Amino acid sequence: LIQLTPDLPLAGRRVVVTAGGTREALDPVRFITNRSSGKMGYAIAQVAREFGATVTLISATTHLPAPSGVKVMMVDSAQALLTAVSDVYDATDILVMAAAVSDYRPVELADQKIKKPADHADLTLRLTETPDILKTLAARKRHQYVIGFAAETQSLLANANRKLTSKKLDLIVANDVSKPGVGFNGDTNQVTLLRPQQQPVTTELATKSVIARKILTTAIADGAGKQA
Ligand code: CTP
Ligand code: CA
Repeated sequence: LIQLTPDLPLAGRRVVVTAGGTREALDPVRFITNRSSGKMGYAIAQVAREFGATVTLISATTHLPAPSGVKVMMVDSAQALLTAVSDVYDATDILVMAAAVSDYRPVELADQKIKKPADHADLTLRLTETPDILKTLAARKRHQYVIGFAAETQSLLANANRKLTSKKLDLIVANDVSKPGVGFNGDTNQVTLLRPQQQPVTTELATKSVIARKILTTAIADGAGKQA
């Protein structure tokens, strides 16, 4: 069936994409987050749908409209994202972790709005590490093809290769987010795709939709998520 429908190369495949920057609450009105727009993940979800997949997009808060034909689940924190992805993971063929997961969260969540101290003293926040969702799930992968991102500002390929290996990924999308037009927030990206034992593939600067196609066609060429 897959050979007969080359325009729908992901027909019958279940793709889960995470997107956006998680929010880690401090109190009822404040949170810690990052500059992720969610655009790269939404573009991947859209292209996976166009390729015929059944797509679930698990999204942190963004300003983006839901891609058509895609099931969208909204989450806020890293912990909520872990729970949501874990719940669907066994029934997933391809996982794409495009979300910018906060690496730390406040140790304490105040149940009332934190007040300024009367003496105007400095305020110290204590943060603790969040779970590594990608590493946790890739460690229990069976048929799943697992794709991660690496957002770097230096030593792009060395750092991305280390993540590819240490997180046991099938593909990592290396992003030099210090370059103009690359990574967080914009409508364009330029990436290098790294896979175990294969030559790196570097793309031109292109729209996130074009980059999404390149990521998915590379995964498809690897036989991504096919049940043996
Ligand atoms: N990631 C994750 N859970 C986390 C942190 C990151 O699943 N708690 C995922 C991201 O979605 C991304 C990949 O891991 O696909 C790499 O994220 P990145 O921030 O580049 O790397 P880290 O492993 O967090 O390391 P560092 O931030 O120190 O470079
Ligand atoms: Ca990180």
